[in-house]
Amino acid sequence: MERTLAIIKPDAVERNLQGEIIRIIQQTGLRIVGMKMLRLSRSQAEGFYAVHRERPFFASLTEYMSSGPCVVMCLEGADAIRRYRELLGATNRDHAAEGTIRRIFALDVERNSCHGSDGPDTAAVEIAYFFSTLELVG
Ligand code: PPS
Repeated sequence: MERTLAIIKPDAVERNLQGEIIRIIQQTGLRIVGMKMLRLSRSQAEGFYAVHRERPFFASLTEYMSSGPCVVMCLEGADAIRRYRELLGATNRDHAAEGTIRRIFALDVERNSCHGSDGPDTAAVEIAYFFSTLELVG
């Protein structure tokens, strides 16, 4: 069993797409073992994306991620990180495969609807960024 962090980003929450996105995730067999809705402050978004601080889009990305509420989930399942990333599709929706969450819902490369951890080390750090052990069930 593996765990990964998923975020339904402000563009998708704004359009009331949480339910549809959660249904697609659950249809793959991944289980939600933690979930909360929150609005990141700018500094919390900067902390979460700290590894990208040198990238040209850092200011815009962290402003966007703190512009409205998100739904943050911890997903669990066999090979959860890879399976959820596959379900997300490429960062840029124009390169994402048909049927993936970003291909269906993303508005552009920044407002790309969902986040997923990119590996086991990142997943552990990202899950701990949002959830205490007591908040994860199953
Ligand atoms: S990845 O998966 O980490 O390799 O993706 P990467 O392409 O490196 O992007 C890291 C996060 O930055 C976001 N991103 C952008 N935001 C705004 N503008 C541009 N041009 C842009 N390019 C990438 C991308 O959505 C990733 O956010 P998360 O939340 O990790 O998906």
